[in-house]
Amino acid sequence: MNRIFSGVQPTGNLHLGNYLGAIRNWVKLQPDYDCIFCIVDLHAITLPQDPVALKASTREVTAAYIAAGIDPERSIIFNQSAVPGHSELGWLLSCYAPIGWLNRMTQFKEKAGKQRDNAVLGLYAYPVLMAADILLYKATHVPVGEDQKQHLELARDIAGAFNRRYERDVFPLPEPQILGAAARVMSLRDGTKKMSKSDESDYSRINMTDDADTIAKKVQKAKTDAEPLPGTPDGLESRPEAANLLGIYSALSDLPLAEVCRTYEGKLFSAFKRDLSDLAVAKLGPIGRRMKELASDAGAIDAILRRGAERAQAIAGPVLREAQDVIGLLRP
Ligand code: AMP
Ligand code: TRP
Repeated sequence: MNRIFSGVQPTGNLHLGNYLGAIRNWVKLQPDYDCIFCIVDLHAITLPQDPVALKASTREVTAAYIAAGIDPERSIIFNQSAVPGHSELGWLLSCYAPIGWLNRMTQFKEKAGKQRDNAVLGLYAYPVLMAADILLYKATHVPVGEDQKQHLELARDIAGAFNRRYERDVFPLPEPQILGAAARVMSLRDGTKKMSKSDESDYSRINMTDDADTIAKKVQKAKTDAEPLPGTPDGLESRPEAANLLGIYSALSDLPLAEVCRTYEGKLFSAFKRDLSDLAVAKLGPIGRRMKELASDAGAIDAILRRGAERAQAIAGPVLREAQDVIGLLRP
């Protein structure tokens, strides 16, 4: 069976983009793939994290996976640092990843900002660790939001470089799965910026644990233009805020964007926003409540993560040993 690997960083503020761009899509893949879903804590520490908050957030992301419909019996859920092979294969692969490839990564440039020399090595090497995450399980498919596309191309390039170096098909080239109308959910305050965990403005994103009133307020305050809504998706060109809100509606309702446009043709944003807010509350409300319930039992979450790490280790161990053998590292 084909294998899925994907992950989310435990860095707080899980939002609608994480849900629509990633987690929600994973739920539907469970019947057709052997699935591994990771909480990538080693990625999180590429930026400064408070130790107490990091642990809490690791449990919260675990709770979000389960509340959204990932079945921990069927799929493997674990935190990255609990399986040492991620770091080990990360090092091995770093020896096959030319610096020129890493220099092209736009996310590093964004996250490092102007102070490039003060950015830590881990932030720069992060895409190699991400390649190791995937290749450690010989995963064939990786469902992610659009912002991860470049990192996945790099993972394919690294797998190819390794295979060519030893003239053996050790690693399959993983296929990105960038799914649906909401592969890139934008900020509610600025339709040209992606919705992100680190945006200082609370009004820029809808969090998965927001209550009904908060969701309603954020949707009401979402930036829009003054034009009535267009009747077709073509009319959304150069209207980024309108495109974003209609895209979110389409994803949450599972209706094609063209149909959503037809329904709201000529209407004002005020009417549309009321419906969008009701829809978001109906879809996210139960998930957010379940997340809070699950997260309140840390012992139960930790037991799920422990069991997941054991199952992950059982797959990762042999793959790591295979890579070591191919490279010629002695295992006395
Ligand atoms: P991160 O928050 O960076 O750990 O991302 C976890 C997953 O959510 C990845 O698959 C991302 O591609 C996806 N994701 C993050 N932000 C967005 C967004 N604004 N729109 C769509 N997907 C997103
Ligand atoms: N880099 C991804 C993000 O920030 C998270 C991630 C780490 C990931 N390792 C992965 C996603 C492996 C898919 C597969 O969103």
